[in-house]
Amino acid sequence: MNQDYSINTRCVQAGYTPGNGEPRQIPIIQSTTFKYDTSEDMGKLFDLEATGYFYSRLQNPTCDTVAAKICNLEGGSAAMLTSSGQAANFFALFNICEAGDHIVASSSIYGGTFNLIAVTMAKMGIESTFVSPDASEEELSAAFKENTRAMFGETIANPALTVLDIEKFARVAHKHGVPLVVDNTFPTPVNCRPIEWGADIVTHSTTKYMDGHGAAVGGAIIDGGKFDWMGHKDKFPGLTAPDESYHGLVYAEKFGNEGAFITKATVQLMRDLGCVQSPQSAFMLNLGLESLHVRMGRHVENGQAVAEFLESQPQVVSVNYPGLKSNKYNALAQKYLPQGGCGVVSFELKGGRKAAEAFMKHLKLAAIETHVADARTCCLNPATSTHRQLTEEQLIEAGIPAGLVRMSCGLEDKKDLIADLKQALEAI
Ligand SMILES: Cc1ncc(COP(=O)(O)O)c(C=O)c1O
Repeated sequence: MNQDYSINTRCVQAGYTPGNGEPRQIPIIQSTTFKYDTSEDMGKLFDLEATGYFYSRLQNPTCDTVAAKICNLEGGSAAMLTSSGQAANFFALFNICEAGDHIVASSSIYGGTFNLIAVTMAKMGIESTFVSPDASEEELSAAFKENTRAMFGETIANPALTVLDIEKFARVAHKHGVPLVVDNTFPTPVNCRPIEWGADIVTHSTTKYMDGHGAAVGGAIIDGGKFDWMGHKDKFPGLTAPDESYHGLVYAEKFGNEGAFITKATVQLMRDLGCVQSPQSAFMLNLGLESLHVRMGRHVENGQAVAEFLESQPQVVSVNYPGLKSNKYNALAQKYLPQGGCGVVSFELKGGRKAAEAFMKHLKLAAIETHVADARTCCLNPATSTHRQLTEEQLIEAGIPAGLVRMSCGLEDKKDLIADLKQALEAI
């Protein structure tokens, strides 16, 4: 769909245009395999000489329809769905890096992604260096090595809610001849499109706002199509040297900068690792995407109202929300997220762990959940859940006060949410 249409229209209609008499809703192609008349037809698919489907472990038409919508929203050249956000980040990085390579990543990222890069990818022989997102360009540059092949960050980090200076990170990555990969899960393309600011590859946990109803785990990878792989030929042999599993095909030559990255990730990584999203999940994801632009505005409105309310409460030590004037990242938020970021707010209560437990017990609308970014407001106290194993001292060292509450504001009426918070604060 034409990019001249507003993002609101594209959320509803991009990716699928039915022909005369065809279904209005995207068809769920619940088929593992596809039929061909001749072996020659099939052979062309295996040689990547013809486009088409042969096995749903690699590609499925329903998933591709939804990937095309997400690609349109992010302003990319090609995209694919994955089984989860974890798979999306792994594929995005492993499509570029191999054993002996090195990644520079922001230290302010989702814990699961930190573990993926720092522990699991290290076991595969891929090293990493973590940098503060607030570091200067010189400090970021100093983290690069001869074998660095990618830079990584999150537009709005989960759970720290730091805002990434995408242009700064892109400048440094490009100075060193490597692509910038940005996880854009929290703002979604409705609120920020990292490719417009210089990012090369964008990833998503579609499990969050894109689905938006806590119904289906999923992920997505979008290629901006601008990174010049052949211009850095020696760094990226996976894309610029022959792939013997496809008779010596060179992805960057055959599919160009627009298509090489996603084609390789599909026909090589998906073929061998099989982290595919189910067509049923893709269908549900599309239902979420159709209202994403309507929902994000409400999530932001609720997040902002809740953050402002909490900031004025005597039981609250501090509130972390980039939309607050007092927030360290407010200037970056105004630049990269002019319509607001997301509905996730974190705040510290006086009285530590006990106060947080009492407060959460009294909430009537916000449920206690290991989740963020869906229609229903939910919350979590890291000290008694995700970071439970840490002592009081270790919590302080990790920058997670015992009284910290992370709240994901849903789509309820903000007056009801604030009234609920008020009565729970009074009950501590
Ligand atoms: C920013 C971010 N990226 C990636 C992930 C991982 O996504 P998933 O749970 O879909 O594997 C998460 C999960 O919370 C996340 O918040």
